[in-house]
Amino acid sequence: MQTKVTYYGHAALGLQIGDHQLLVDPYFTDEKARPDTTGASCPSFILITHGHGDHVGDSEAIAKRCDATCISNYEIANWLSAKGVKTSGQQIGGGFKYPFGYLKMTHALHSSSLPDGTYGGNPGGYLLTTPSGKKIYMAGDTGLFYDMVLIGEEGIDLAVLPVGDYYTMGPDDALRAIKLLDPKVVIPIHFNTFEVISQDVNAWKERVEAETSAKVKILRPGEHYILEE
Ligand code: NI
Ligand code: MN
Repeated sequence: MQTKVTYYGHAALGLQIGDHQLLVDPYFTDEKARPDTTGASCPSFILITHGHGDHVGDSEAIAKRCDATCISNYEIANWLSAKGVKTSGQQIGGGFKYPFGYLKMTHALHSSSLPDGTYGGNPGGYLLTTPSGKKIYMAGDTGLFYDMVLIGEEGIDLAVLPVGDYYTMGPDDALRAIKLLDPKVVIPIHFNTFEVISQDVNAWKERVEAETSAKVKILRPGEHYILEE
């Protein structure tokens, strides 16, 4: 089974795992790279890492149009559920076997208020184990934390890490995160969307590949990476 990871800009990803279509943090800033979320292109699940507007994005509208299930923490799930959206509300450290794989919610150092000011619980990331055993760690918005060592112990095939600085880890700490996680491949996200998170990711890729064994895949919005399985 093949897993295809598409980057839609900022922190938005598409995951195609076999026949399953997922979206992660569907906030789209690049109109040319906006995914089709109608008809056969509908996702069946939407993963949300935390409550901020640049992550919740269009979750409600897409979930209603597609009859998709939004997976997030308990508080965000309740907030969406009250709007008539199907939800699954997990908590940090807890996992569940969905049709697309086993999804565990991980810790993140950040905040999580919802766009209307509602308390959005704790921010998180996700560790996804695909049906064929590949491990994808999506850190969400986070600062560096040493417990990334524990996540790395699972054996990470692909890590999706924020590198923008200001709101999350910057390039220096994201490099330290890679040393803790020891992933095979890294995709950088959450950079260049706003002035304060402008970064030279090509220079960062050179540093990472010189100092670690990880390969960095820089995706422009609309580009994808295929995790061979
Ligand atoms: Ni955030
Ligand atoms: Mn963010």
